[in-house]
Formats: sequence, C-alpha cells, structure tokens
Amino acid sequence: MHSFARHRRSPAGKASAKETKGLIINGGWRYDLMGWFHDTFSFRGQWRKLRQRTADFARIQPGEQVLDVGCGTGTLAIEVQQRVGRTGRVAGIDPGTQQIAHARSKAAQRKLPIDFQTGVIEQIPFPDQTFDVVLSTLMMHHLPAGLKRQGLAEIARVLKPGGRLVIADFKRKQERQGRAARFHAGGSSMQDLAAMVSDAGFEDLETEEMQPPRFSAFPGAGIIHAHKSYVQQPSSEAETVG
Ligand SMILES: C[S@@+](CC[C@H](N)C(=O)[O-])C[C@H]1O[C@@H](n2cnc3c(N)ncnc32)[C@H](O)[C@@H]1O
Repeated sequence: MHSFARHRRSPAGKASAKETKGLIINGGWRYDLMGWFHDTFSFRGQWRKLRQRTADFARIQPGEQVLDVGCGTGTLAIEVQQRVGRTGRVAGIDPGTQQIAHARSKAAQRKLPIDFQTGVIEQIPFPDQTFDVVLSTLMMHHLPAGLKRQGLAEIARVLKPGGRLVIADFKRKQERQGRAARFHAGGSSMQDLAAMVSDAGFEDLETEEMQPPRFSAFPGAGIIHAHKSYVQQPSSEAETVG
C-alpha cells in the first residue's frame, strides 16, 4: 500500500504532532459533517469549489506523485488520486490522528491506495525530491509565521526540481471588507505569503482569488501556484531509510 520511501532526521531535529505550533484539528468524521454543513448552508459550495480549483490549478497529470500537506480527512487527496490514475501516487499528512484515521477509512472504502500518515509540516516524512506536486488547502492560517517559513522549506525539500506547489487559504476579514488584500494566514498578507514562497526557492508565482458570492459567509480565498527552482538549494540533513 505505501508507495513512498520513508524518511527521518536525527532525534534532535524531530518534530511530532504533539510538539507542533500549528493548530491541530482532530474531528475525523465530525470535521466532514461540519464541513458539509458549513459549505452547503454558509459557504454556498465554495469550499468544495476551492478544493477543485486547487487541483485544477496544479495541472495534475496521470502518473505524477502528489503530496497534500495538512490533508485533514483526505477529501482533496482522494480527488487527486483519481487524477493521477493507477500509475500515479498520492500521500497526505496531518497531525490530527482522527483526521488521518478517517482519511484512511474513506480511501479504503473507495479502494484507493493513498498513503495517509500522521505528520507535520515541520518534518515532512518523505525523502528529498519525492514529489511532482505539493498541495495545501486551508492549512497555512493554522501556522505562525516562523513555521510557515520552516514548512515551505520542507515542502521545497520534498519537491523535485521544477515541481509545483499550490497553496489555497482563506482571505482575512479585512479583505472581505475591501481593505488591504490579506489572507487570514496567521497575519500574513497574500503578498507576504507569496514572498515567503519565493524566499523558499520557488519561482514563476501565479495567484488567483476566489471572491465570496453574495449572501454567503465564505470569506473569499487566495491561491498561489509556484514552481520549485531548478537551481539547487542548500541540502538538508535528511537521511533516508528503507
Ligand atoms: C482547516 S483544516 C484543512 C484540512 C484540509 N486541507 C481541507 O481542506 O479540508 C487545517 C488542517 O491543518 C492541520 N495542521 C495543523 N498544524 C499542522 C502542521 N504543523 N502540519 C501539518 N498540518 C497541520 C490541522 O490538523 C487541520 O487538519
């Protein structure tokens, strides 16, 4: 079932779900139920659309290797597995053990070989240059700024040169009210987040916005698409096992 090699670092560098400064969600099936309720009655289907748009923006091809960071209950990863087909591989990590348990159960029901693991963006449990694409939806606002930078460096590490990153996140309240364009991403504006992505070794940045529909509580969202540079970044201290 597991298709990707494992990866670990020295114990001193190890980060676990218990130690993360990120805001963990652990609702499992309740998360999906609440999500469906909010999306149907408050967001008018925009959450579902955001996931679709993220997968579309990534231009996923059959046979590709894709990682969803902060995958929650695996809804996006399941959609992506259908896009990469039998020759592709999809993995998802999240520190929420019940999120991962529910994601595994959903994949098993559909007989999809997705590699869902409990894990954190601080230390993504895969070797360098494993993935063609890394995705993240509605996760960055769960992280403080320093962790965003650390996490983006980890994403760059596990992406192949030229690999694609797509990050989608809610806009901040100010943006809904027409003030400066800012994500709700723990205080990061869209421009700040794009700058962090660029600093982490990504280029060819493209952004798009999802505006809130009328009579909807959906706060609007921003999506960033970027390529990992082909220029070699300083190597990590990663070590690969089996
Ligand atoms: C709002 S949920 C979004 C989940 C999923 N991507 C979706 O679109 O439904 C944010 C997720 O980020 C996860 N998260 C929090 N801290 C994290 C970290 N340090 N590394 C990876 N994921 C983290 C939470 O556990 C949660 O499942």
